[in-house]
Amino acid sequence: MVTGASSGIGAAYAERLASDGWDLMIVARRVERLDQLAARLRDAHGVDVESIGADLSAASGLGRVCEAVAAAPVEMLVNNAGLAHYMPFVELPPSKARELLEVNVAAFVLLSRAAAPGMVERASGAIINVASLLAFSGAAQEPFLPKRAVYAATKSFVVTFTELLAAELQPLGVQVQLVCPGVVRSEFHTRQGMDVSSVPRMEPHDVVRASLTDLARGVLVSVPGLSDTDALAEVQAANAGLLRAARVAELPARYAGS
Ligand SMILES: NC(=O)c1ccc[n+]([C@@H]2O[C@H](COP(=O)([O-])OP(=O)(O)OC[C@H]3O[C@@H](n4cnc5c(N)ncnc54)[C@H](OP(=O)(O)O)[C@@H]3O)[C@@H](O)[C@H]2O)c1
Repeated sequence: MVTGASSGIGAAYAERLASDGWDLMIVARRVERLDQLAARLRDAHGVDVESIGADLSAASGLGRVCEAVAAAPVEMLVNNAGLAHYMPFVELPPSKARELLEVNVAAFVLLSRAAAPGMVERASGAIINVASLLAFSGAAQEPFLPKRAVYAATKSFVVTFTELLAAELQPLGVQVQLVCPGVVRSEFHTRQGMDVSSVPRMEPHDVVRASLTDLARGVLVSVPGLSDTDALAEVQAANAGLLRAARVAELPARYAGS
């Protein structure tokens, strides 16, 4: 199952997985696009493709997709559907803030929750969660980056969720992968009225190539744009060090007398 397959990275996952011979369920709101993609993939690769038109920000839509994923059985779940609503926090309409939480967070958790029991029972399967490099941007002082407090935080959620899910599920035979793309050529920015044509953008099929190559190699965190993967190990080591260093019962000396 690939969510958000009506454009961009999700469509590229669907293309690549179909060409590798996988039967697919593809999910998005624009069902006519899914139907066109499904017809093309069936013709080109002789696989079964079911399109599921659903709004993952609505409880009913998400519920239907959860039922489909639990019943399938699904061998691979690609949690990819997502959106950003870049804007200053005080201008972000509460309805859009909620949509970000529902699509970028709740859908990832609940679809994983629906898929995982069957995978654990079969001791096989994979869950791929598409986050973003911006998950690591909380401390970045880069004025050219968009206003993104909620979006980046949803992706940070996906980082922690995926790493901890991997720790639980990998020993049970289920692969879990986190994918953190940089800027990618898709509808992600244009649907927000943003022109990023002057920014170097990775092609969606390259993101997918990196993700599936890393999956085959057992790499948990796939950062397609990163040349020196030591940087990732350093982030993980720094996080682990912080956790160890601050897990104490008494306030440190700098608070003495305060
Ligand atoms: N493009 C980038 O620069 C970039 C960078 C890092 C991470 N990402 C992440 O990559 C993922 C895919 O984005 P993309 O770049 O491929 O953007 P995209 O072309 O805009 O695709 C987003 C997909 O998500 C689906 N979607 C959005 N809201 C939905 C909803 N309520 N219910 C069901 N489906 C919904 C869209 O389908 P419908 O509109 O048809 O529903 C579409 O298929 C996202 O999670 C995004 O955060 C993108």
